[in-house]
Amino acid sequence: MDLGLKDRVAIVTGSARGIGAETARTLAQEGMAVVITDLDGDAAQETAKGIMAQGGRAIATACDVRNEQQVKAMVAAGHEAFGRIDVLVNNAGLVKDRTLLKMDEADWDLVLDVTLKGAFHCCRAALPHMIEKGWGRVINISSRALFGNPGQANYSTAKAGIVGFTSAMSYEVARKGVTVNAIAPGYIETEYIKSLPNFDTIQANVLAKNQVSFPGQPSDVGDAVAFIASERARYITGTTLFVTGGRYG
Ligand SMILES: NC(=O)c1ccc[n+]([C@@H]2O[C@H](COP(=O)([O-])OP(=O)(O)OC[C@H]3O[C@@H](n4cnc5c(N)ncnc54)[C@H](O)[C@@H]3O)[C@@H](O)[C@H]2O)c1
Repeated sequence: MDLGLKDRVAIVTGSARGIGAETARTLAQEGMAVVITDLDGDAAQETAKGIMAQGGRAIATACDVRNEQQVKAMVAAGHEAFGRIDVLVNNAGLVKDRTLLKMDEADWDLVLDVTLKGAFHCCRAALPHMIEKGWGRVINISSRALFGNPGQANYSTAKAGIVGFTSAMSYEVARKGVTVNAIAPGYIETEYIKSLPNFDTIQANVLAKNQVSFPGQPSDVGDAVAFIASERARYITGTTLFVTGGRYG
């Protein structure tokens, strides 16, 4: 199936590693030029180099998505390098887990700011380029945790919030040729998760809750992003796709 992504341009935030890096590699394999952008600029450079070594087109920029000026500069750098911005994947995210009574205000603000304010800044900077061309895709990475996990009041709130943001935004830009969707991954086995000392226990606990018998990989999210980003998904907007192996609650 031709996804029609060749020569289009994607920004993937938080793409130095993990799901974001794999998503960027998948989009590059589909012929897209990709902007690798992350708080960790050195790791972003390494990811971009890896894509270019495989014959792909990529640039790397350090950017904190909470900072409007840095986001504007990052989007401008992508536009200057590749001449257009077609797809924005709001993937940057993090956890600061604590039960509510132990969670301090900084833990709350950090997780909500990176997820929600970050997506807000990135959309405001990238959307005009999409609207100008009459075609665009915004894909916001939520999480199954939007339904709640103990110790994750901040993260669950942020990931539920991104679903509302997605829905509201979709109404504003659908008639300008831009779709806005969320993807809610379940358990995805990144290198970081695999490096945890209690990895075997984590995996066994998750697999007991999944419908399918195997764990999700970063490429499962990357493939879903590629489809939603594609011309083939033109009739899909304002929704959330669960990439969870059948786990919802
Ligand atoms: N791994 C999972 O099982 C899983 C499940 C559901 C949802 N998610 C979501 O997928 C996304 C990627 O997760 P991951 O597991 O690959 O995480 P990860 O920690 O491996 O990668 C996240 C990246 O975001 C970057 N980042 C953090 N704060 C940032 C900021 N302020 N500005 C720019 N970049 C910033 C980090 O430097 C890091 O490189 C996140 O939004 C996460 O919440 C992950």
